[in-house]
Amino acid sequence: MQDVLRTLQKKRRDAHLGGGTARIKKQHAKGKLTARERLSALLDPGSFEEFDMFVEHRSGDFGMQRQTIPGDGVVTGWGEIGARPVFVFSQDFTVFGGSLSEAHAEKICKVMDQAMKVGAPVIGLNDSGGARIQEGVASLGGYAEVFQRNVLASGVIPQISVIMGPCAGGAVYSPAMTDFICMVRDTSYMFVTGPDVVKTVIQEEVTHEELGGARTHTATSGVADLAFDNDLETLAQIRRLFHFLPLSNHDQVPIRETADPADRLEPSLDSLVPVHPNKPYDMREVLEKVLDEGDFFEIQPDFAGNILIGFGRVEGRTVGVVANQPMELAGCLDINSSRKAARFVRFCDCFNIPIVTFVDVPGFLPGTDQEYGGLIKHGAKLLFAYAETTSPKITVITRKAYGGAYDVMASKHLRGDINLAWPTAEIAVMGPKGAVEIIFRGDIGDPDKIQQRTDDYRRKFANPFVAASRGYIDDIILPRETRTRIARSLKMLRNKQLTNPSKKHGNIPL
Ligand code: HXC
Repeated sequence: MQDVLRTLQKKRRDAHLGGGTARIKKQHAKGKLTARERLSALLDPGSFEEFDMFVEHRSGDFGMQRQTIPGDGVVTGWGEIGARPVFVFSQDFTVFGGSLSEAHAEKICKVMDQAMKVGAPVIGLNDSGGARIQEGVASLGGYAEVFQRNVLASGVIPQISVIMGPCAGGAVYSPAMTDFICMVRDTSYMFVTGPDVVKTVIQEEVTHEELGGARTHTATSGVADLAFDNDLETLAQIRRLFHFLPLSNHDQVPIRETADPADRLEPSLDSLVPVHPNKPYDMREVLEKVLDEGDFFEIQPDFAGNILIGFGRVEGRTVGVVANQPMELAGCLDINSSRKAARFVRFCDCFNIPIVTFVDVPGFLPGTDQEYGGLIKHGAKLLFAYAETTSPKITVITRKAYGGAYDVMASKHLRGDINLAWPTAEIAVMGPKGAVEIIFRGDIGDPDKIQQRTDDYRRKFANPFVAASRGYIDDIILPRETRTRIARSLKMLRNKQLTNPSKKHGNIPL
């Protein structure tokens, strides 16, 4: 018996050492934690239960039979975050560069399958040189097994990818199909083809960082949602994100104790919207004043800043927030903001998270760039996403709600449950000046007349009363009451039942 115990202990020690102390030192020298250190930082202390510590690869080519390391480059299992279950895999770059072998893929698939059975999220910590080159097609098959599970799990359990080292080639497609991608600045990158291939094929010189670093993907491509400075900060923020999420599509949103009263009035909101209709104000301030304890967990803060998305809580319960941001592009909807918000709305709807939408939108961004880039299709994504949503929808129009963008932003016509407007709301087909210049084109040479007609138009249409008189707005509220009105509406909507017609699936304009 003693021998067996000693053997077990030795095997465990070997597994814990991964690729060995020299490679661990190298990993640390790059400012990166090891796969196991990362899991310790991510999970509640002592909660990690490991699977498959003794799994080894089955490859016999290129001398691989002489190189086996228990665990085969990925640490898998389950643990808890805030005492709620989560399944995890953490690729170990010290073992064959974290590359994905058939056995490595099977370990990942096992946790994904188990997560689906029990209804708990999966968090993958990616740090890998890609397909295990020595294994060839067996490795490619392994990737595809993971991809298939990503798709089947989508909308059933939340999936989060954290990129903490290389993630290249087809390997990027598993994270791409998960709900959130978070990167670590300076030590992680993602691309389909690396700088060497780029140089050979199109003679373009580009660094790893420029091609696929955290800045590129959070600010330019929009592939990644968040980036942080180092492993520890990143994992702490993933814990924060996790606290907002239900465990599955059958779970309720988590509830957190709050000392922030639901009936808190916020008088400062009464004077937030500037008198001049084209003067910007910071919509973030509205969100922070309305949500519990001012806590807004913003997603994609560096991409398409003309729309804000993220999570917050009201009365301790998670809500998804979408808000036009007048500080950037006057809050216009464009290609990127439509894509950004559409995906977020769909995430919330998958998991029945109520969506609170704040509207100040002058319309869609005009121009050839936008039209050539397919604004029609991309804008339709957001429209489609809101229209198919069955989770509770509360909309607050703070100022402009013009044209098609009025319809898109969770209007009553798209089954908005509660649609409120501040007295400063302007709900019309278009802004007063543009409208007058079209319907009184003949007066354009007379600035005084145009001004007078613009003022008339503003008085008649640029207010919330016309929409309210038709019931498109349920109530016009004082800005100071926004939090309390949202809280009451959310409470009323807690047992909302709404289902879409039975179908295989819709065909969102991708
Ligand atoms: C096997 C690999 C490996 C791989 C790295 N290693 N990548 N082993 N298969 N894909 C091993 C190295 O041999 C080395 O082993 C150790 O990991 C660390 O690698 P280094 O090169 O020393 O590290 P570094 O300098 O930091 O460079 C990291 C790297 C580089 C940029 C990721 O290793 C690299 O370019 N690797 C190959 C990447 C690649 O082409 N992968 C296949 C992509 S195609 P020792 O023993 O020396 O420590 C693909 C298709 C997926 O992934 C398709 C899915 C559909």
